[in-house]
Amino acid sequence: MTTSQSRVILEMRDISFRYPNGGRGLEQCSISFERGMRTALLGLNGAGKTTLFLQCNGVLRPQSGEVLLDGVPLNYSRLGLRTLRSRIGLVFQNPDSQLFSASVREDVSFGPLNLGLPITVVRDRVEQSLAAVGMSDFADRPVHALSYGQKKRVCIAGVLAMAPEVLILDEPMAGLDAAMQTELAAVLDELHDKGMTIIIATHDIDFAYQWADRINVLEAGRCAATWDAIELPQVIDNLKRFGIGVPKVAELHRHLLDAGLVTAGSPIPRSHHQLLQQVSLLSGFRF
Ligand SMILES: Nc1ncnc2c1ncn2[C@@H]1O[C@H](COP(=O)(O)OP(=O)(O)O)[C@@H](O)[C@H]1O
Ligand SMILES: [Mg+2]
Repeated sequence: MTTSQSRVILEMRDISFRYPNGGRGLEQCSISFERGMRTALLGLNGAGKTTLFLQCNGVLRPQSGEVLLDGVPLNYSRLGLRTLRSRIGLVFQNPDSQLFSASVREDVSFGPLNLGLPITVVRDRVEQSLAAVGMSDFADRPVHALSYGQKKRVCIAGVLAMAPEVLILDEPMAGLDAAMQTELAAVLDELHDKGMTIIIATHDIDFAYQWADRINVLEAGRCAATWDAIELPQVIDNLKRFGIGVPKVAELHRHLLDAGLVTAGSPIPRSHHQLLQQVSLLSGFRF
């Protein structure tokens, strides 16, 4: 393993990008993503999250600065982009922008077939990817007959079928009901357990706090803050300043601490479940 392969897998160095109509996409944005980590990208609408993701898989190209994968600047040739997109999978926010085949199986097969893989390998990958997102029973269904949440899962399967090293999801929870969000979180956890690097854009600070290892905040086209998720309770004033919200469980923990209902010095909980456990310990009350 070379040094560049050790931690950072994907890096943006000082990249700037403006849309042809003058829309500010990114301005001297520097950010790096570590291998095997779960990263959440937060930021208000228009902060540049989608633009940044489109730079990651070469759909957009920076006008200055560079994007590096494993320490190597992206290669924007046809072949380079094909390789890049097999290594970095991007799931768009709107599934209808991603799905275009008639059936689920056809759609999920498209990427690996395009890579020129043998048909038996493609078949295996499609089966495994559909299974990973719990959509095996829907393989022969027409895409247009799926619900929004099912379409999202098919999009993820289509990207997984490319066997990427990095999975990027643009606001994956948007538009999903609570049960589907829980299911998707479980899918992401399983992929992370298998070693995949996962980056998501989200507006949900509670989910980010509970799920992510690392938090990046984008503001006006640049990365304005990077924290380990466990640091969030210490930077609540910063979170408020960025307008991205504060994890409710951390706030509640602070109130309970002030009221003496949890023990000072106990680890700050990241989920309601962990918080209830702490309250149970001190009060003897079982929830
Ligand atoms: N297709 C586009 N054409 C022109 N400007 C765009 C386009 N997409 C995004 N922008 C501009 O780029 C900036 C970043 O947008 P975007 O990356 O979509 O942010 P986010 O995903 O964080 O909401 C915004 O100022 C937005 O208006
Ligand atoms: Mg966006």
